Amino acid sequence: MGAYGSGAGIERRGLTEAFMEFSEVVAKRRSVRHFNTRREVTDEDVRALLEAAITAPTAGNIQPWRFVVLRGEEAKSRLATAIGQKWATAAPVVIVVCVDPRPCSARYGERGERLYAIQDSSAAVQTILLAAVDRGLASCWIGAFDDEAVREALDVARPITPVAVLPVGYSAEAARKPSRRPLEEVTTWL
Ligand SMILES: Cc1cc2nc3c(=O)[nH]c(=O)nc-3n(C[C@H](O)[C@H](O)[C@H](O)COP(=O)(O)O)c2cc1C
Repeated sequence: MGAYGSGAGIERRGLTEAFMEFSEVVAKRRSVRHFNTRREVTDEDVRALLEAAITAPTAGNIQPWRFVVLRGEEAKSRLATAIGQKWATAAPVVIVVCVDPRPCSARYGERGERLYAIQDSSAAVQTILLAAVDRGLASCWIGAFDDEAVREALDVARPITPVAVLPVGYSAEAARKPSRRPLEEVTTWL
């Protein structure tokens, strides 16, 4: 890929971590829950992930997403307590992908609010996960939390809704590959 950062990243990170082929990025993505606390994630990295995120498609190109970036220990700790997943604070950076459903419901009614807002922001989430792998980083999609507790930790108000919490860092765990149901079981060809 490589389209999301400057080419300088290739030299900075060395050949072994140069941008990957798309198929390799997809195959290598895993949910990582242990991070190397000594390796920093730069603002340039975060920016590249967010630049990638906003290339995702959205219904009517409304782009209802909002991103909150947490770096400070206190902010990360408050969030980790809110979501009840302490391990998430070990990541140098946490990105919370939120959505403002108002423009979606204004244009598309109930379907916009209930479905498109979540689909739009989820497309951004997956793009961040893949862009992270492309840069040699790792993350995990965290969705199990109480919306109101996360709003409070982030100091954002309804109807802004947190969709995913994404700790980002360098992986400190051995790659393991959770199994997938066979394609035949989940696909119908008509
Ligand atoms: C919508 C959603 C919510 C998730 N919530 C959590 C979570 O709260 N905590 C967690 O550790 N992993 C969470 N995950 C990660 C899944 O457990 C993981 O994607 C799944 O086990 C497959 O592993 P893989 O991502 O390495 O392929 C979530 C994933 C998705 C898509």
